Amino acid sequence: MKFSSRVTRTIWIVLTIVVALIALRAYFRLTDDFRIANISHEIPYHPEWEIPHLNSADQAEIDTILNQKFTYLGKGAQSYVFASEDQQYVIKFFKFKHLKPSWLAMMLPNVVPFSPYLERVSTRKQKKFNSIFAGYRLAYDLNRDESGLIYMQLNPTQQSRTVTVIDKIGLERNIDVGAVPFIIQYKGETFRTILAQLLDNGDLETAKQRIGQMLDLYQNEYRKGIYDRDHGVLHNTGFIGDKPLHLDVGKLSQDDRIKQQANYEQDLAKVVARMLPWLETNYPQSIHALTQYIEHKLTQDLGHRFAVAQ
Ligand SMILES: Nc1ncnc2c1ncn2[C@@H]1O[C@H](COP(=O)(O)OP(=O)(O)O)[C@@H](O)[C@H]1O
Ligand SMILES: [Mg+2]
Repeated sequence: MKFSSRVTRTIWIVLTIVVALIALRAYFRLTDDFRIANISHEIPYHPEWEIPHLNSADQAEIDTILNQKFTYLGKGAQSYVFASEDQQYVIKFFKFKHLKPSWLAMMLPNVVPFSPYLERVSTRKQKKFNSIFAGYRLAYDLNRDESGLIYMQLNPTQQSRTVTVIDKIGLERNIDVGAVPFIIQYKGETFRTILAQLLDNGDLETAKQRIGQMLDLYQNEYRKGIYDRDHGVLHNTGFIGDKPLHLDVGKLSQDDRIKQQANYEQDLAKVVARMLPWLETNYPQSIHALTQYIEHKLTQDLGHRFAVAQ
C-alpha cells in the first residue's frame, strides 16, 4: 500500500471514531440513556421486598395514578424519575445498567483465573442493588410519610399493566410495569430548588425556616434508628409546599446506634457540610446569617455548642 493511501485510511478511521464518540455523547446527553432494557433485569423473587396487600380503595388510587401519562423529570445514579400529568406524583424506575456485566467482563471467559473475579464483581453489584431496594422497603415501613412513598412494586409481577411515559426527547413509550420494579411517590421540589427560589427572592427568613425543618426531619429519623448513608441533602430531599420530604431513600439504613446523640451528631454535621459550600458559592451575601442560624438551632437541639466545620 502506498504511503498516501495509508495516511488517507488512517485519517478516515480516526474521523469515524471521533464522529461515533460525538454521536454517543450527544445520545447520552439527549436521552440520559433511558431505555426499557436499562430498567429491566431478571431478579429472583425476594419475599422481603413485598409490601402488605392494599385495600381496594388504595388499589383504586394507584390505578388512577397509573392511568396518567408521566413525563421525564430527571435521573440520579440509581433511577429514572417521571412526573405525572397533574404534577402530584412521580414514578421511579431503577437503573439496572450498572448491575449488568461491563463490556470488559463480558469479554472475559468464565474460567479460572477469571471466574473468581467475575463472581466477585457480580456479587458486589448485586449486593449494592439489594441494599437500594432494602432502603426503599425500610422507608416504606418506618418513614413512609416523610418519604412521600405511596406504592412500591420491587418484585416484578406476572400481571401485565401498561404505563405511558414521555422520555427526555419527547418520545412516548409504553412500559409494562408488571415486568419492572417501580415506586410511586408524591412529587416534591428538591431542597436545592426551594432554597434557590427563596434566596433569589431575598426571603432569608423562610430559607432559615426550611433549613430548620430539614434538620428536624433528619433528627426525627435518627430517633427512629434510621439514617441516610447518602448525605446529599440538596438533591435527595425536598418539600411539598411547606412539608419536608426525604425523596431518595435508596441509602436508608437501620441501626439503633444512630439513636445515640454522639453518633447522630456526626451524621448531622455531614448533612450540614453538604449544604454550606453550595450556599456559600451561590449566596455569599446570606452565608453568614444562615451559618449563624444553623449553629444557633443545632446548639439548642443538641444541648451544647455546635460549630460548623470551617
Ligand atoms: N418525589 C420526587 N419529587 C420530585 N423530584 C424527585 C422525586 N424523587 C426524585 N426526584 C428527582 O430525581 C432525582 C433522582 O432521584 P433519586 O430518588 O435521588 O434517585 P437516585 O437514587 O438515582 O439518586 C432527584 O435528585 C430529584 O431531582
Ligand atoms: Mg439521589
